[in-house]
Amino acid sequence: MRIKAAAKHDIKALCEIENELFDKNSFALSYKNFLYHTKKNPLFICKIKDKTAGYILLLTRKKSMKIRIYSIAVKKEFQHCGIGLKLLEKSFAYVKKTGKKTLMLEVKAVNYSAIKLYEKMGFMKIGIAAKYYPDGTDAILMEKAF
Ligand SMILES: CC(C)(COP(=O)(O)OP(=O)(O)OC[C@H]1O[C@@H](n2cnc3c(N)ncnc32)[C@H](O)[C@@H]1OP(=O)(O)O)[C@@H](O)C(=O)NCCC(=O)NCCS
Repeated sequence: MRIKAAAKHDIKALCEIENELFDKNSFALSYKNFLYHTKKNPLFICKIKDKTAGYILLLTRKKSMKIRIYSIAVKKEFQHCGIGLKLLEKSFAYVKKTGKKTLMLEVKAVNYSAIKLYEKMGFMKIGIAAKYYPDGTDAILMEKAF
């Protein structure tokens, strides 16, 4: 398992992950979105042999001490092998390197497996954004302090 920064040639595989896991109610990222983020934001992928198994996208702002996990996804065939955990650990290392103080995220209130993973990795529930997603689902807001 290798975690590395995504490059332009990885985007096709990232779109395949996106199509497999997210629908229009979950803010799926397009090719154009990924292209932008490979240039502007930390976007890490997990490679298993020659396959792209998952990714994590972080959003940073110069003036903010918070970094946001915009998206994390692992292809179904590779889930429950610890890749989500490794991608989160990579993001923790990134936060520490930048000296920022908080990692934050939003997750669908019904996404129990993701919430469980975030809690296991030290995130705390800090609030709810009512009807955050296009289908009317609430988001749980979570943060981890560094
Ligand atoms: C949420 C998501 C990223 C987690 O990725 P993952 O790679 O399956 O996560 P991990 O394998 O690190 O951890 C998940 C579970 O596998 C378990 N696990 C980890 N390594 C394992 C191993 N070697 N063998 C068996 N189980 C293992 C973990 O303990 C955890 O179990 P738990 O939920 O019972 O506590 C993934 O389910 C996903 O892509 N979901 C769809 C997209 C999504 O919802 N993203 C989040 C949006 S906010």
